[in-house]
Amino acid sequence: MGNPPTPRWFPVVAAFLVCVTIGSMLVVRDGVTGRSRTPDASGQPRVAGSALHLRGRYVFQRHCAVCHGRWGDGRGEMSVGMRPRPRDFTTGVFKFRSTPSGFLPTDEDLRRTLRRGIANSSMPAFGSLPENEVEAVIAYIKTLSPRWMDGTASDATQDLGMEPSWLGDPVGSAGHRAAGEVTFVTYCAPCHGVAGDGVSAVSFSLEDIWGQPSPPTDLRTTSLKSGPEPIDVFRTLSTGLDGSPMPSFAESLSAVQRWDLVAYLLGLRRSNETPCASETR
Ligand code: HEC
Ligand code: HEC
Repeated sequence: MGNPPTPRWFPVVAAFLVCVTIGSMLVVRDGVTGRSRTPDASGQPRVAGSALHLRGRYVFQRHCAVCHGRWGDGRGEMSVGMRPRPRDFTTGVFKFRSTPSGFLPTDEDLRRTLRRGIANSSMPAFGSLPENEVEAVIAYIKTLSPRWMDGTASDATQDLGMEPSWLGDPVGSAGHRAAGEVTFVTYCAPCHGVAGDGVSAVSFSLEDIWGQPSPPTDLRTTSLKSGPEPIDVFRTLSTGLDGSPMPSFAESLSAVQRWDLVAYLLGLRRSNETPCASETR
């Protein structure tokens, strides 16, 4: 008659299993134990849950989560309507790197972003955060995406060389600027516009991989996300801004051609900024 009676131990065991499942889901999402080994700058595995990791998580929740979200997915409470959106660290894709396109940034790259902030975006500069907190939050970010675990991490640095000596010399660099202009019209104008002002046929239709509008930068200003120095521009051309439509030109243009482009862009900038030099940051 009917089903056999449920054993008396059943509710206890079932409740236990439910607790364990929910508990482990919370812990894994928190990144504490789910992926418990993460390489540090020296390539040594570092056990998540260490003092460094816990400090990093604290710094992140305190200073970053409001934009980047409690789980690092870019959906913090202040992110609503923000353009560009705060980075989703779970995708493990970064714009500002010294590494080739498709690679993760180095700790130094992340430190530069944090210390300087990102111009033309809501990402603030954390200039006065103590160095140990910066180190900890960098280690924490590296637990938020499985991409950091698969070994393609930071060691693929590109040799970005040094600023050429002719760059600061207006006369000596004239030929380089002219060569840069020719390259610009072919390779860059389709997105950045012939005048470099960011206005082109595609300006309004470009999107990043996160599905947000990604208009080409007005290159006539010093207000650049990656930084205002010539080497910052050269790095952008060499690495591309992963996740955005801005490609890497490390393969298609030689280092000489890329420096010629930098010379040309600095020229655009000067002619634009002379009338209101006082506004230059
Ligand atoms: C007020 C909002 C806000 C806060 C607070 C904030 N960020 Fe950001 N962050 C952003 C936005 C917006 C971007 C995306 C900028 C872009 O894509 O151009 C960003 C991008 C980044 C990037 C991506 C850089 C790359 O190479 O793609 C890193 C790393 C980063 N933030 C780290 C942090 C850390 C660490 C903290 C806390 C110490 C923090 N951010 C706090 C808004 C914020
Ligand atoms: C397919 C379109 C496309 C092409 C081609 C392109 N860019 Fe870009 N570029 C972009 C977009 C979009 C951004 C803005 C990315 C962002 O803000 O996240 C950008 C940003 C930049 C930046 C600013 C980075 C910063 O720090 O803010 C520089 C400098 C730049 N491009 C130079 C060039 C040069 C020089 C060329 C030609 C060799 C070129 N781009 C070709 C789309 C393009």
